[in-house]
Amino acid sequence: MPYSIAIDGPAGAGKSTIAKALAKSLGYYYVDTGALYRGLAFGLLQKGVPFQNEKAVEEEIKGIHVELLYENGVQKVLCNGVDCSALIRTSEIGEGASVISQYASVREKLLDLQRNVARQHSCVMDGRDIGSVVLPDANKKFFLTASPEVRARRRTLEFQQKGESANYESVLEEVKKRDERDMSRAVAPLKQVEDAILIDSSGLNIEEVVDKMLAYCVGSE
Ligand code: C5P
Repeated sequence: MPYSIAIDGPAGAGKSTIAKALAKSLGYYYVDTGALYRGLAFGLLQKGVPFQNEKAVEEEIKGIHVELLYENGVQKVLCNGVDCSALIRTSEIGEGASVISQYASVREKLLDLQRNVARQHSCVMDGRDIGSVVLPDANKKFFLTASPEVRARRRTLEFQQKGESANYESVLEEVKKRDERDMSRAVAPLKQVEDAILIDSSGLNIEEVVDKMLAYCVGSE
């Protein structure tokens, strides 16, 4: 039976970096589910569909096919057959993904895709509703968080390292807005489930968080 580890938490908590490192040390697949929402947002943007128009989104996603591909353990996202992995890392797409992820039709479309990977491979899967909805029977569940200020500082640095202009105050505002939307939506809101282990990464570096998680996982496989 494949072993599954769910990591949920707000934007900028370090989920993807940590999930990737954890997956590497365990030899598991790393599944970044946010990339699927971003892939759909990318397809909608290409078609010129406004993210806020739920009816139009529901209709148009029927013609958008997103899939995950793994090459040497690295995840790629395809949108209608085209690799869009690098193109989905913009704040416009992140914002769009956050808006459309509120819609039941969008979440439903991506559910089996995520479950199928976990059915076939031992994995570390990160997202917002992995422990609560996608993999309620995951072997281990973590809720990874950090203060909004720490998360905004990390995000600002990330954008700047990619050569994009970013201003801390506006990133902080965006982080708070996204938290509010992710936590208050009616369908699959972001929340810490009862059986998830809470880890606050505010004062910890990547290695320290990964070591903490590994300590919980080793011996329970
Ligand atoms: O994690 P990432 O920033 O790439 O995710 C983009 C957006 O997709 C998030 O803000 C969130 O609203 C949504 N998302 C979600 N459920 C997931 C993963 C991402 O709602 N499992």
